[in-house]
Order: sequence, then C-alpha cells, then structure tokens
Amino acid sequence: MIEFNHVKKIINNKTIINDFSIQIKTNELFILVGPSGSGKTTLLKMINQLNKPSSGEILINNNNLQNININQLRHNIGYVLQSSALFPNMNVFENSAIQLINLKWNKKEQQERIEELLNLVGLNPLKFMSKMPNELSGGEAQRVGIVRALASNPSIVLMDEPFSALDPISKTQLQDLILKLHHKLDTTFVFVTHDMNEAVKLGDRIAIIKEGNLQQIGTPKEIMAAPNNNFIKKFISDNVKHIDYMNQVVKEKYGTDIKPNKTIEALDKYQTINDWAKEISKNPDIVIKVENRYLTSNDLINYLANK
Ligand SMILES: Nc1ncnc2c1ncn2[C@@H]1O[C@H](COP(=O)(O)OP(=O)(O)OP(=O)(O)O)[C@@H](O)[C@H]1O
Ligand SMILES: [Mg+2]
Repeated sequence: MIEFNHVKKIINNKTIINDFSIQIKTNELFILVGPSGSGKTTLLKMINQLNKPSSGEILINNNNLQNININQLRHNIGYVLQSSALFPNMNVFENSAIQLINLKWNKKEQQERIEELLNLVGLNPLKFMSKMPNELSGGEAQRVGIVRALASNPSIVLMDEPFSALDPISKTQLQDLILKLHHKLDTTFVFVTHDMNEAVKLGDRIAIIKEGNLQQIGTPKEIMAAPNNNFIKKFISDNVKHIDYMNQVVKEKYGTDIKPNKTIEALDKYQTINDWAKEISKNPDIVIKVENRYLTSNDLINYLANK
C-alpha cells in the first residue's frame, strides 16, 4: 500500500499540494486526474522521491520513505513519462535493459526478460530489439518505455500522462495494453492523466485533484454517480461528453414503466449504453430495467437514431 498522510508541498511560499491524504491499495490501478497545474506530477514524483513533501509523510507498505534507501526504492518502482524518454543513441534492447544492467543481471537473463516483455507489449523482439528510437513510431516508443519500466519486475509502476502525445488510435491501443498488463501482473499502477475519459476507462479508483487539493476519491462509478462538487460535475461533463449513460436514456423517457412479461436484466443508471447494447447483443428479446423503466432493443435503436 502507498499512503500519503497530510502531505504538503510549498514552493516559494506557494502551496502546491495542500494536506493531501490518500491510500493506494496494493495491485490497484490508481488514477490521479486533474487539470494542468493541479499537482499531479508533483504527487507522483513524491512516490519515487524525485520530489519530497514539505511536511506530512509517505509510506510504502507501512515504511516511511524517509527511512528507505533511495536506490532500493527506485529499483522497485518503474517510471513511464509522457515522451518515452528513450536514449537516442541506444537501441531498443539497450534502452529496455538499463535497469537490469544496473542490477547486474547477466546478458542471457537480460535478453530473455526483454524478449518476454517485448512480446507482452506486442512488439516482435526479432524485429524491434536492435531498432534505434528514431526508427519507432510514438506508440512503439511508448511500448518500449513500458518495457523498460517493467523490466526488473517492480511492484509499483508510475505513469505520468504516458499517452497524451499519441494519436487517438495508438492511445486506445495502449490503454487496452495497460488494462491487459495490469490484469496479468501483480503490480500497483499509479497513472496520472488530465483526461477524465482515460481515468474512467482505466481506473480501479480515481482521485480528482484541483489546485493541490483532493476533491474526491472513488471508483469511476462512484464518482460519476455522485460527484462531490460543482468542479467535478463540470470536469466530467466537459470531458466525458461522448459517453451516454443509462440515466440519460431514462430521463428522455425511452421505454415504459409497466413491467413486461419477459426476461428482465437490470442495469445501473450509471452504466453506459454500450453496456445496454452488450446485453441486447446476447439476447435481443430481453428487457432492460433501469430504475423504474423497462427498455427493449427497439428503444436502443430509437435512442441511437434520434441522437
Ligand atoms: N520546481 C517548481 N518550482 C516552482 N513551481 C513549481 C515547481 N514544480 C511545480 N510547480 C508548480 O506546482 C504546480 C503543480 O505542478 P505539477 O507539475 O505537479 O502539475 P500537473 O498537475 O502535473 O500539471 P500538468 O498536467 O500540466 O502536467 C504548478 O502550478 C507548477 O507551476
Ligand atoms: Mg504533470
């Protein structure tokens, strides 16, 4: 577990982080989200001690970071940046294996580990091992950045807006990759983004930050269902425009409130119309219940047609 207890950061008399307390569970995919300048990078860098709090404490598995050897700490933490920050004069293998060379793994072990990880992130080792960074697309370079961060099998991986510079297709592919990796590995991911869509898609839990203050923490569903304040409501509606929730559908009076004599599946009002479509694709004859309304596959077609 990573724990922030009453963390404050003051730079030049300006409060950058204000009394920040959260607990990130082991193996959680945890998202820090907020507008530019809200303090996300500052918080993330405190976990690997690239940045230290002015007051308050950070603990990893109950050990105060002040008492942990900084090299040991960093060997156990992978770090992925916005630009993949690969060394331009080193090939993919050399870039990926930096941490392993540091840890004095032998050449064969390095080779096997990097091959395994390149396969895992969808890069064919035979093709990519000896490529130079300038021969990679943005998405490929970012995959190598992920391989480098995972190489020594760290228990924590920090990611600072890793996909914000990518085109939408690569971004979607890499988000899916992160979900796959997180599912497969026993690793805590702390992922920074200013994109609420990304936060909702990836996060087990999300912490929303504004001007160094924690606004709300919870699962995507909890936050979407009950935003704490107007800032969060606005942040969601400004950013998560293309998501249609079932509550919007029932608000527009689709369906009926008379219980039909058919198989009924219930959806939560903050599930999306994609969830609705998924249920209907399994069985087009079922009726979907959301709150007190009953919706059929025809309602879905009408809703989509009238959007
Ligand atoms: N070394 C520093 N000296 C002065 N101010 C700083 C320093 N580092 C960060 N800040 C200020 O602290 C605030 C938070 O910065 P931080 O980089 O953590 O924000 P962020 O949420 O990561 O923003 P972005 O989304 O733009 O990356 C900003 O107002 C920034 O200008
Ligand atoms: Mg930042």
